[in-house]
Amino acid sequence: MVQLSSDWNNEAYVSLHLVQTMLEMAGLPRKSSYSHWIPEFKVKVPRLTANSQLVWTQKEVDFLVEDLSRYINFLVEIKTAKTRLDAAARIQLQTYLKYSNTRFGILIDPFSVEVYEYTQGLPTLKCKHNIENPEQVQPVANFVRNFLDTVKMRTIAIYTAKGGVGKTTLVVNIAYELAKIGNRVLVVDLDDQANASLSLGVNKADELDNATNLKEFVQILDSFKDRKELINFLEDYDKEGFSYKEYIQPSSLNKILNVANSTKGRIDVLPSSYKTTDSSILKLGVFWQKKLDNALWKSGLSNDYEYVIMDTPPSLTAVTQNGILAAQYVIIPSQMEYLSVYAIRIPIKDAKEIHDNTDGRRGNILGIIPMMVENVKLHTTIKALVSKVFRDIPLLPEIKRATAVGQASHDRKPLSLFAEHNRTASSVAAQFSTLTKQIVNQIDHLERNSSK
Ligand SMILES: Nc1ncnc2c1ncn2[C@@H]1O[C@H](COP(=O)(O)OP(=O)(O)OP(=O)(O)O)[C@@H](O)[C@H]1O
Ligand SMILES: [Mg+2]
Repeated sequence: MVQLSSDWNNEAYVSLHLVQTMLEMAGLPRKSSYSHWIPEFKVKVPRLTANSQLVWTQKEVDFLVEDLSRYINFLVEIKTAKTRLDAAARIQLQTYLKYSNTRFGILIDPFSVEVYEYTQGLPTLKCKHNIENPEQVQPVANFVRNFLDTVKMRTIAIYTAKGGVGKTTLVVNIAYELAKIGNRVLVVDLDDQANASLSLGVNKADELDNATNLKEFVQILDSFKDRKELINFLEDYDKEGFSYKEYIQPSSLNKILNVANSTKGRIDVLPSSYKTTDSSILKLGVFWQKKLDNALWKSGLSNDYEYVIMDTPPSLTAVTQNGILAAQYVIIPSQMEYLSVYAIRIPIKDAKEIHDNTDGRRGNILGIIPMMVENVKLHTTIKALVSKVFRDIPLLPEIKRATAVGQASHDRKPLSLFAEHNRTASSVAAQFSTLTKQIVNQIDHLERNSSK
């Protein structure tokens, strides 16, 4: 360890020479179109008095930094060579994170920097870095920039050119598995049939189920006229006074998620209906293909969700194009039959084109999911063929054909919820859980490698 001058015992010195320089070097200047610092950011925290009364006191955190290009906010708490980043400092930061409702916090002294994430009511150490010499700030800036690059919202499209292969089933189940482990998930329904919206209990799913005649049914559909949904979100996101929350509906599964897990995992839906048509998308003007991508990042919602999962219609419509252009990651489901495999070439070509045109920021194919697989020779043969023909694309864990999938979707339940009362469904539920873990691992892996 280098011998440090006594200047490093002074907090203002550490702030100026290490922290502020580091933020500038990490591409987060004090005030710019990319970032904004709020020094001495005030947080109200509770404190117990000597006679056990709860009082609220105002504390000041050294900085709240708003990273506007990634839409991430984080607190920065500075310690010196003398006060040091110790257990008390960690507890202090965790309290600030909790009561300021901020997701990330950075704790730094001249010897090390630690990054914490506050989710599911718990703080976790995300990563740390030993500072060899605080006079050399660049390595610290690199560490912080790499960290920020790995925590941005992740957007995934489930896409293929064929209908009825289980896209919506995947969307619902992957969203639920992600939410179960504490993620806030936004499902964007790009299909005007709105199956994902219905399966997640929005779009008046219960009322439509209970409609006894066509008139009632039409009345319910008519009530969508004034409701804000995907197409309105795309029309309005850059207008003054826009609030994305007006366009989003909570899934009916949130009640179960909250009760079961007491985590902040949830599913919200940006729904569609018959109103989301190609002609309405084309009316959005030039660059209509990029509207969803822009809207997802500029509407403020990227601070509130860890994952966006997009359900697409079975053909490359203007709506689908918006989806795949907004997707950092693409997953291609396919049944293991010759015609389905033939159809895989189309989404691969579309995604690769987008990947190449965006320097790899969009259109990364995570893999092909063999769907509705049965223990028959044909399926085994085709799986082997797919691995061989599409050698550079991973084969993700498969989902077997099971009647429980149809029953669960009829009950509007993800498989792992349905399996709580139907033991035969538990092995299918486990497949969705394994698949989701693999998807997350693969994204983690890709992001780690791209930030090196
Ligand atoms: N693993 C499975 N085993 C049995 N049935 C399944 C399985 N996966 C999906 N299904 C059933 O297949 C049908 C089509 O599934 P789903 O609606 O998810 O497909 P999709 O690709 O979204 O269709 P579309 O292209 O029409 O949007 C549904 O009835 C669903 O319950
Ligand atoms: Mg579907």
